[in-house]
Amino acid sequence: MRVGVIYESTRGRTKAMAEAICKGATDAGAECVVIDAKDFNGITDICALAIGSSTRMKRVLPKVKQILAELQDLNGLPAAAYGSYGWSGEAPDEISDKLQELNAEIIVNPPIKAKDYPGEAVLEECRSLGAKLAERCP
Ligand SMILES: Cc1cc2nc3c(=O)[nH]c(=O)nc-3n(C[C@H](O)[C@H](O)[C@H](O)COP(=O)(O)O)c2cc1C
Repeated sequence: MRVGVIYESTRGRTKAMAEAICKGATDAGAECVVIDAKDFNGITDICALAIGSSTRMKRVLPKVKQILAELQDLNGLPAAAYGSYGWSGEAPDEISDKLQELNAEIIVNPPIKAKDYPGEAVLEECRSLGAKLAERCP
């Protein structure tokens, strides 16, 4: 079982957040996998989950939208949302709301947002989220 960090990113900003989350998880002793949303094929071996997307036209990007539509009940799975944005940043909230609807246990609320490229403070928040997700993985 491992921490799964799914992302969809157009210019690498949300991806940088994903990598920081996984770094935090592995530094805390868990296994972690960063998954590009286009390669996602299920959460069978995932003990805690982070899903991120940047915001486009006030919405999540399409691959993450599709994953959220296809996920089944998460039955208390520890989970969190994150993402980079330019000015309004709705996508992480949309992801978090959907995770809640799917009965995930939301680990960070409000979700982590980075305006443009994530700076050191946000990357530290991401690493800290990774450590929290790792704690939930036996
Ligand atoms: C076509 C387009 C639409 C966008 N729409 C929004 C938006 O509605 N709200 C917002 O906050 N940012 C918006 N952005 C900005 C991106 O979310 C921002 O550049 C973000 O840092 C990209 O992160 P990424 O590299 O992870 O994709 C838009 C960018 C583009 C290119």
